[in-house]
Amino acid sequence: MAKPLPVIIDCDPGQDDAMMLFLALNAPELDVRGVVAVAGNVSMEKIKRNLAMLIDIVDRGDVPIYVGCDRPMIRNLVTAEYVHGETGINGIEIFEPQTNLQSEHGVDFIIDQLRKARDNEIVIVATGPLTNIAMALIKAPDIVAKIQQIVMMGGASFEGGNVTPSAEFNIYVDPHACDVVLKCGRPIIMFGLDVTHKVMTTKNRVRAIRALANSVSDVAAGMLDFFGKHDSEKYSAEGAPLHDPCTVAWLLKPDLFELKTCHVAVETMSELTLGHTAVDFWHVTGNKPNVRWAYDVDDDAFFDLLTERLARY
Ligand code: BDR
Ligand code: CA
Repeated sequence: MAKPLPVIIDCDPGQDDAMMLFLALNAPELDVRGVVAVAGNVSMEKIKRNLAMLIDIVDRGDVPIYVGCDRPMIRNLVTAEYVHGETGINGIEIFEPQTNLQSEHGVDFIIDQLRKARDNEIVIVATGPLTNIAMALIKAPDIVAKIQQIVMMGGASFEGGNVTPSAEFNIYVDPHACDVVLKCGRPIIMFGLDVTHKVMTTKNRVRAIRALANSVSDVAAGMLDFFGKHDSEKYSAEGAPLHDPCTVAWLLKPDLFELKTCHVAVETMSELTLGHTAVDFWHVTGNKPNVRWAYDVDDDAFFDLLTERLARY
């Protein structure tokens, strides 16, 4: 087997961030060097507790976890309790985690890891607002060459926004950070709503996960039940889009997704369309492509992968 890919994860758990972590943290294909928390779905107080709980749940205390920025670069923090519930991971019992957070700031951890790496070595997976990644790039521009690729959940084009008519939540929360990342010059793979809205939980899919009956699948099924309730009303569907695990699923099985290389820019000024990602899908601007934009997925195969990996716990 090929050497595992060295990965740094940045996230704001969140039930779908949790599914991303469950996929990543037992994948032999990945060498997760650390996980950094960013404020997004709920406040940092809850995000860092949730992250530590999730590490306890998968029994991966060997993976160091860090606290990153507790607010976006310029704007005030906008949270999403209306999607994820008061705790950010409603659907499971909150407990006092055993895993300790490292004392180093998450942004400095990202910088240190990248500085130690070879050129083009580290994969960054980002499933929350991009604040920590942008802050690392600004604080230490020398690290950019060390990034192999940034695989992120964020943005929307054909599908429209989920927090405003034009913006997806992660990008809306910190559009300025997104701007820094989009302009960094390294390969970026973006999983926006165009594709994540095709990865819907259904009663049967959650039932298959619950039937695995191990300690992690029980937690996953509990969270997915809650997550499905809110979004099924919003989307008039049976369940909810499982946004964040698309990133790791792509690293494990790229054939699941269709991607197109195009230029993406983000709106940072307009009050009306703040956080909108202008995806030049038909190459009308002539701007040099900076992103591989995911636009389609084999959703059955995605859930087969998720279920099969959860079964390994
Ligand atoms: C994104 O926003 C968050 O609520 C989810 O965790 C996901 O990262 C979807 O818009
Ligand atoms: Ca998230």
